[in-house]
Amino acid sequence: MEPNLIAKLKELAHEAFKNSYSPYSHFKVGAAVVMKGGSLFSGCNVENASYGATVCAERNALFQAVSKGHKELEAILILTDQEHPWPPCGMCRQVMLEFGSPETKVFTANLNGTLNQFTLGQLCPESFTPGNLS
Ligand code: THU
Repeated sequence: MEPNLIAKLKELAHEAFKNSYSPYSHFKVGAAVVMKGGSLFSGCNVENASYGATVCAERNALFQAVSKGHKELEAILILTDQEHPWPPCGMCRQVMLEFGSPETKVFTANLNGTLNQFTLGQLCPESFTPGNLS
């Protein structure tokens, strides 16, 4: 993927990161996605007093895209301020599988410039996908 696009995803994820609503965990997370056709969306984690109603940054970003009619995920970048960038949680991986493919790129980044790259296929071997229902 073009370095400029990765930089743009990181910039958008950082903007969302700043809006993180995380009064309970105090962990800020931002995410940005690029969808087929090139549209970009971002989201932050939004926590809840019930804890269980918390939505991760990845799902928030992806749902913003789907809400605008973009359903094919090409790449996602997840940004935290942690020393070791956070990989996506299992629930977010499952949501990525709904709109992505094994080739979907997953970048994990922090504010110090660390950037790791995976494919969704690497993160989700033997996954359950919409194809299993057809
Ligand atoms: N969180 C994310 O936003 N993405 C992840 O992949 C892992 C966890 C959020 C959820 C919660 O608000 C906080 O980080 C601590 O788990």
